[in-house]
Amino acid sequence: MTVVVSCYALSRLAEQKSTWWKDAVVYQIFVSSFKDTNGDGYGDLRGVIEKLEYMIDLGINIVWLSPIFDSPMYDMGYDTADYYRINPIFGDMEDFDNLLEQAHQRGLRIILDIALNHTSSEHVWFKRSVKAAKGGDEYFKDFYIWGDPIVDEDRNRRPPSNWESVFEGCMWEWVPEIQKYYLHVFGRAQPDVNWENPNLRNELWKVLRFWLDKGVDGFRLDAINCMSKVRNQDLCAQRPGKPTVSGWPDAPISTPNRFEQKANEMFANGPRIHEYLKEMHQQVFARYDALSLGEMSCGITPELGQDFIARDPNEQQLDLILHFEHVELDCVDGDKWVLRDWELPELKAAVSKWQTCMAEAGGWDTIWIENHDQPRGASRFCKDAERGQLNAAKLLAIWLFTLQGTVIIFQGQELGMTNPEEFSEEMIRDIETRIYWDVAHADLALGGGDHKLEMAKKAITSKGRDASRIPIPWNSNHETSGGFTDNSAKPWLPIHPHFATLCAEAQRRNPASVWTFYRDMIRLRRQHPGLIYGTYQLVDEHHPSVFAYTRIHGGNFYLIVLNFGREYVEWEVPQAHGRGWVPIKLTSDYEPLGLEVTKLRLGPYDGVICKRESCKAANGDSESDIV
Ligand code: NOJ
Repeated sequence: MTVVVSCYALSRLAEQKSTWWKDAVVYQIFVSSFKDTNGDGYGDLRGVIEKLEYMIDLGINIVWLSPIFDSPMYDMGYDTADYYRINPIFGDMEDFDNLLEQAHQRGLRIILDIALNHTSSEHVWFKRSVKAAKGGDEYFKDFYIWGDPIVDEDRNRRPPSNWESVFEGCMWEWVPEIQKYYLHVFGRAQPDVNWENPNLRNELWKVLRFWLDKGVDGFRLDAINCMSKVRNQDLCAQRPGKPTVSGWPDAPISTPNRFEQKANEMFANGPRIHEYLKEMHQQVFARYDALSLGEMSCGITPELGQDFIARDPNEQQLDLILHFEHVELDCVDGDKWVLRDWELPELKAAVSKWQTCMAEAGGWDTIWIENHDQPRGASRFCKDAERGQLNAAKLLAIWLFTLQGTVIIFQGQELGMTNPEEFSEEMIRDIETRIYWDVAHADLALGGGDHKLEMAKKAITSKGRDASRIPIPWNSNHETSGGFTDNSAKPWLPIHPHFATLCAEAQRRNPASVWTFYRDMIRLRRQHPGLIYGTYQLVDEHHPSVFAYTRIHGGNFYLIVLNFGREYVEWEVPQAHGRGWVPIKLTSDYEPLGLEVTKLRLGPYDGVICKRESCKAANGDSESDIV
């Protein structure tokens, strides 16, 4: 009997697990910039509590908190010094417990952002690992990835491999006191932990369980496909490279005349990655009704992505993955600072490929365009929006809420916030941007020319991570930096130049605002399960400015038509898609609702959702022929 009950309970758990995050809307909070209640210029957990009702009004279900663990903030908390302690800038454990309780009382779930690929070099594990190399506690010796130098006949020393770190420079850092290098995929102060060590993995499982036992609803797992690194013996056709005597292979030369080389294939999706993530699932997530949202900003493709979200219980690893192809279309060879113009069909192809591949694998996509690493969507997907950013922001809302997957919005996106588009050294607080700027300066000193520095300023203004990290404007009060801080404290980053018009207070009163549009879109999506679960199919894939697609669910058919262009466009509903389309939501309200649509005239950045229930084919075809 007991067995029957527990099987039932387990299957209920599995059932709930597979559904609650699917139709949810996730709201990402970058705590430092959300709401400051103690006047130190940084947002805090009490500020999040203060705004819980705001999120409820908007229709949010899950709150994703950017890292709140103790950290020296070299990389804004993605450098953890203690996984069991709240960063004092944000408050303490009592504040966190209050937040969790009050969120749960309102039906809001909380997920925590956690970096398990690396810690801060201030973490006690790292300090002990260094000590262990000098004869200290053996247990910590292999908690990090240590490598010996390669020494040539002239006794010149070089790092164990030529891998380039994601932020800049060599991925290996020399520690003179122990005559070894440690590996860091990201910044120098973020040493990678060694997942090959089962003791290290157990410590990480303990960390995750500690927070889940407290009641958190899941994690956003930072850089989760970077845990398994390639050794000499792992080289193969998909992971080409050259073995070295250190045991770590050199990556192929992609940039001649330089030691460090791009090395995605060496540290992302490595040979043991699925084994590790399956273990994490079995040891942690399988025991809780918790969401695992894996971030994969390096080296992920739809085909590789399928393997991470397999639903087969023996293969299960992650619930959702965050992938980046659609936000990297403007990069040359994956370099975020070297910008290129892209065409709409490229975006349509990228989005459609992910929509289809995730569905084919029985998985579920994530739908997002902004976060703390990515600039504001309205500034990059709808450039030079002549009819104002207002329409562009609404167009993007229609797009996001009508694709298949869990929708994730970043704080301030619901206000239609744009990049500040202003360059100042004061704006550079992010370590990645700081490194890039320092390198641009160094190049200037070497005779790089002023124009190079101007290009760097332009790249920082449009791609720098601080652009979306600036404080949220709650009201139009100058003294309190738009209500971000309760005192006249200086916010850690300057507030948006147009904060008074963008602020939440003004927008919530205005039925035509972006905020109201977001709230209505969230409601509309909930009223139409077809917009959540319907099958996605791209229409008119080559059109240069219209992004159109259908969603089909049961007897309900939806057609979404979005004009991503700056010109008016006439678009005829292809005959194959039948007749009887009625608009149910438009970006602008000047067009009459309720008339059958066969041809659309859309203004710049206008979008429309149409619906039909029964099937009326133009040529009398049966319903099944029509998509
Ligand atoms: C991805 C995070 O989103 C980013 O902010 C961070 O710098 C890197 N991972 C390293 O943790």
